Amino acid sequence: MSLFVKKPMSQLMVQADDSEKGLKRTLGAGNLIALGIGAIIGAGLFVRTAAAAGEHAGPAVTLSFIIAAIGCAFAGLCYAEFASIIPIAGSAYTYAYATMGELIAWIIGWALILEYALGAATVSINWSEYLNKLFGGKIPYEWCHSPFERALDANNVMHHGMINIPALFILLILSLLLIKGSQESAIVNAIIVTIKVAIVLVFIFIGWKFINPGNHTPYLIPADAKPALQPDGSLYSYADFFRHGWGGVLTGAGIVFFAFIGFDAVSTAAQEAKNPKKDMPIGILGSLVICTILYILFSYVLTGVAPYTDFVKAGKEASVVYAIETYMHGYGWLAISVTIAILLGFSSVILVMLMGQSRVFYTMASDGLLPKVFSDLHPKFRTPYKSNIILFVFVGLFAAFVPGSVAGDLTSIGTLFAFVLVCAGVLILRKTDPNMIRPFKTPLVPLVPILGIIVCTAMIISLPNETLLSAFIWMCLGLILYFVYSKNHSKLRNPADVLPTAKDFQ
Ligand code: ALA
Repeated sequence: MSLFVKKPMSQLMVQADDSEKGLKRTLGAGNLIALGIGAIIGAGLFVRTAAAAGEHAGPAVTLSFIIAAIGCAFAGLCYAEFASIIPIAGSAYTYAYATMGELIAWIIGWALILEYALGAATVSINWSEYLNKLFGGKIPYEWCHSPFERALDANNVMHHGMINIPALFILLILSLLLIKGSQESAIVNAIIVTIKVAIVLVFIFIGWKFINPGNHTPYLIPADAKPALQPDGSLYSYADFFRHGWGGVLTGAGIVFFAFIGFDAVSTAAQEAKNPKKDMPIGILGSLVICTILYILFSYVLTGVAPYTDFVKAGKEASVVYAIETYMHGYGWLAISVTIAILLGFSSVILVMLMGQSRVFYTMASDGLLPKVFSDLHPKFRTPYKSNIILFVFVGLFAAFVPGSVAGDLTSIGTLFAFVLVCAGVLILRKTDPNMIRPFKTPLVPLVPILGIIVCTAMIISLPNETLLSAFIWMCLGLILYFVYSKNHSKLRNPADVLPTAKDFQ
């Protein structure tokens, strides 16, 4: 059988119908938008905005957000078409199985591990930074940083990281929560989203008064910008093409792209949507539009309040609180509120990422492409508990021993890659099945998917070479695993096996 064997659309529809009898369809368009915002606003905004501004884009990080948003909008329109046609779990992996065949579906599933698992690791590392800030920096550097990081303290003593214990701690708590099946209810999620959005708005409104126009000039980092001091005492040079001017803006887009990750998680809730055909596109695109507006305003204020070079050294960690404490005198209460809201907000992002990952693993294992252990359900809680435990170990290793920026860049690359393939999937399905009923149609095909592919590929290329190499090695490992294991265990290649239904998710 061909490596590109496709899962018949009719079989997917049966799975979708099965879910009608199983999962409760309780989510309306408003809930889906809230779910999207819950998964989207997190470390990308509160941590990586400053990193992108300090090291690459300067005040023009606002433009980086606009470029990243355009790439996401194209991909989001393509996601919306698929989510309205195939409203079942598995997201991009499932869409690819139906349109581009098993091998490509496997590759997307493998790339999604970078998105969800490493996304959770990245946000847990950033959670640790803000927790340390809340404790007044009292957690010893060694216990909250990876072995690859070091920094000088106030007395000029160099500290080396060893292990990130707070990151491991939050991952453990949330993994246990997932095993128990305590999913965020729509109400809890709505509360967290309200707090997160409120704090972003408060920062924008109050911070606006503290904007120093000098910090926005020059808007792009000049080629001859003075090197900035780093935490370890060394100098950070802006000479490289991707560290100033438009090259820096593009790299900044690749970095802040992380802030948009999560809108695709809305598509994993397709089975719980009241009216998926109409509400899925509204949930995906609505959450994307709201977050884009907030991000542009937020980054404008942050880079106006503090000079971008601050974000290379002192303000590198917990940057928003740093900016408030250093430049917005009299607003100590805001710094504390921001920290608590951020810790809460990060937790919901980690939870959704870990849940998304276990759903993708579950679907892949149900298709026979991963070992059955990933789809084994707990006898009482009916959750994929073994998968959650394995995931905790895997994600925990990254969170404990890898710097946040490295894990974050790998997350972005995995997601961008999945986006490229989803855009390609829309093009392919329009050719192979032009008459299929599409409740939501991506506009201006083939222009929108092609532009989506171009913008997302450009952001991939702009990421650091080491990240590209690591992702390449990861994908090679995935291919080896496919040919050694998955190809021989695929249930689609062995029709005697009964395909599982989405009821197993309950
Ligand atoms: N978009 C999510 C965040 O920024 C992953 O934390």
